This record gives sequence, C-alpha cells and structure tokens, in this order.
Amino acid sequence: MYSNGESERVLGEALEGHREEAVVATKAYFRMDESNPNSGGLSRKAIEQELENSLDRLGMETIDLYQIHRWDYDTPIEETLAALDDAVRRGKVRHVGASSMWAHQFADALHASDREGYERFATMQNHYNLAYREEERETLPLCEKEGIGVMPWSPLARGYLTRPHEDVDATLRGETEEHLYEHPYREGGGPAVNERVAELADEKGVKMAQIALAWLFHKEWVDTPIVGTSSVEHLEDAVEALDIDLSESDVEWLEEPYEPVRVSGHE
Ligand SMILES: NC(=O)c1ccc[n+]([C@@H]2O[C@H](COP(=O)([O-])OP(=O)(O)OC[C@H]3O[C@@H](n4cnc5c(N)ncnc54)[C@H](OP(=O)(O)O)[C@@H]3O)[C@@H](O)[C@H]2O)c1
Repeated sequence: MYSNGESERVLGEALEGHREEAVVATKAYFRMDESNPNSGGLSRKAIEQELENSLDRLGMETIDLYQIHRWDYDTPIEETLAALDDAVRRGKVRHVGASSMWAHQFADALHASDREGYERFATMQNHYNLAYREEERETLPLCEKEGIGVMPWSPLARGYLTRPHEDVDATLRGETEEHLYEHPYREGGGPAVNERVAELADEKGVKMAQIALAWLFHKEWVDTPIVGTSSVEHLEDAVEALDIDLSESDVEWLEEPYEPVRVSGHE
C-alpha cells in the first residue's frame, strides 16, 4: 500500500539486473483502492489478486517474503494461511511473514499452520524501539520461543530518537507526518529516553540515530530493523551503527526511564 504501489515499482526498477542479490519483501492487507473492499483484507480472493498485482508492479516472478500487514478480523486465519501456503507451493512466494498484531493472534496463527500443515510464518514485523517497548511483553517472547525472525518497524521512532525531542518537527517529515504524533513516543518516559540517547551519543562521538540502532542490535530477539532511510547518509549511519559496542550498563541506563504506554501500531 505504500504510495499506492509506487514503492514496489521503484524497487523493481532499482533491482533490474540485480534481483538475485536482494531479499525482496512486501505486504498485503490494506486496501489498494479505498472504494473496493476486495482490494484489501486477507481473504483468498484478496491475497491471490493483490499478490499478482505486487508481482506485476515489481516485475518479478517471486517475492522472497510476503507478509500480512495486520490481523484480518473478517477472515478466518485458516483461509488466509491456506491461500499463503498455495502461493508458496506455486512458487510465487518463498516465505510468509506477519506484522503487528496481538501475541495471542500470532500464537493462534502459528498453531493453525502447525495443525493444518500450512507454511508457517517465518517473521514478525512489529513496532519496537527505545521509545516504544510494549512488544517486550507481547510478541517478542513468543517469537523467541518459536524461532521467528524479528524485523521491527520504525526502529528510530519515526525520527523521534534521531534528534533532541524539542527539534523533532525540524524536518519536513517531523513537521508533517501525523503518525509520528499518534504514537506515544512523547508519553511516559519518552522525553527522558530521548535525552539519554543524546547524552550517550555525545559521550561516544556518534549520532543519536546510531545509539538508538545500536541498542536494537544488542537485543538478541531482533534480527533486522527496517530503518527508514531518506538519504544515503542515513543508510551509511545505520551500517556504521553495527560496530558500536554498548556495555550492559549503557543498555540499562538507556532503558531505565521507560514507562509502559498505550499499545500503538495495531488494534
Ligand atoms: N508493518 C507496519 O505496520 C509498519 C508501520 C510503519 C512502518 N513500517 C515500515 O518500516 C519502515 C521504516 O519506518 P520509519 O520510516 O518510521 O522508520 P524509522 O527508522 O523509525 O524512522 C526514519 C526516520 O528517522 C530519521 N533518520 C533515519 N536515519 C537517520 C540518521 N542516520 N540520522 C538522522 N535521522 C535519521 C529520518 O527522519 P527525518 O525524515 O525526519 O529526517 C527518517 O525519516 C517503513 O518504510 C515501512 O516499510 C511498517
């Protein structure tokens, strides 16, 4: 649904001639056409149709990781799993993954695939960063137990952890992105966490974004954060953050001010 499919077109063009070097992931669930209820959701019809549309836009034969963006309260999970399993058998998709939902729903889905012999979700794309840690008592322990790959979205809290909190609206995205304000980053201990990230970044001579990513890289249950890079420099910063060593006390100090906040990212 990103830019109504345009991001898939751009990615497909960028990877022309390099397809084999990349692991390509996309998602289904949100409506591609607001006026057409069958252009979204996780029914067999929607999955088969929207998967073909994604493959067309990408100009590819196969998607490496096909994820469900949310839980579909209108479709039995068995129908969704059967359609995803068929997509794997037909060679259209290599692996299937899930995204933000309650842990009890994800547990149901894993149980249903084991019971019915369907392809199991291999990954969970959830909302997790230093300023939003509710997943630590939701899907993360389940993913650890079930051997699920974890790929958090908004690992930098949509930019909130990349600059002092009073400057968050200094960029175009900071000023205009409504989701940045909907999420509870500024609630509870958020501002204090932001200040500690700034302090540690200063002490280590690195950027705030790099400290926030280094913290995630130190979390064993995280496999690959989905960093929102809007410049090559952001991407280089993210790669360099892999080499930042945080001590146990650094991690504890960064985490200390956090207070539980309302769940955000799914309902
Ligand atoms: N599954 C889901 O429901 C879901 C939900 C949301 C997002 N996602 C996925 O996650 C991806 C990333 O989300 P996100 O963009 O919110 O991630 P993010 O990494 O938390 O935020 C990216 C923002 O952080 C700032 N930033 C990044 N690197 C920086 C650096 N080195 N120095 C300074 N600032 C830096 C930039 O802000 P400025 O632009 O303000 O400078 C950038 O726009 C999305 O593209 C999407 O694919 C999935």
